[in-house]
Amino acid sequence: MSADLILESLERAGEACADPAPLVYRRLFELRPEFEALFVMDTDGGVRGSMLETCFNALLGVLEDSPSQRVIISSSRFSHGGYGLAGADLDLMFTAIRDTFRDLLGPGWTPETETAWAGLLAEIAAIT
Ligand code: HEM
Repeated sequence: MSADLILESLERAGEACADPAPLVYRRLFELRPEFEALFVMDTDGGVRGSMLETCFNALLGVLEDSPSQRVIISSSRFSHGGYGLAGADLDLMFTAIRDTFRDLLGPGWTPETETAWAGLLAEIAAIT
């Protein structure tokens, strides 16, 4: 089942790297360099850490069909409008998470894992 593949990849990425936050944000800023400036006030990385945790919980929630986590994704698309983000921009965070974990797993990232993540990202993108 694809949820199991995703959970397994999360577990293995956690073993490879205890704190993936710097890697995820580095990837996000590679994907969209102008986002880096939005976090200048976050001098200790606290907001970035907390936001990433929210994103992980949302991602796990979608896997578990949690309606409340779907609402969190949906509302984040609106709540970030103040930072000049379009709703669809928020998907880049989940792309950055997937890309980071793909790198961390190296050859352990199989074509099946890739397909499972593509399905999850598409499901998240469909939450408007
Ligand atoms: C491209 C993707 C995203 C960008 C560029 C972005 C940007 C930001 C920025 C600039 C802040 C405020 C930083 C500050 O106050 O210093 C923030 C806070 C926050 N974001 Fe995002 N965000 C993204 C994706 C998401 C997603 C997908 C979620 C939820 C699923 C989310 C949830 C939150 C939450 C909960 C906070 C408040 C964190 C706190 O203050 O503890 N963000 N985001």
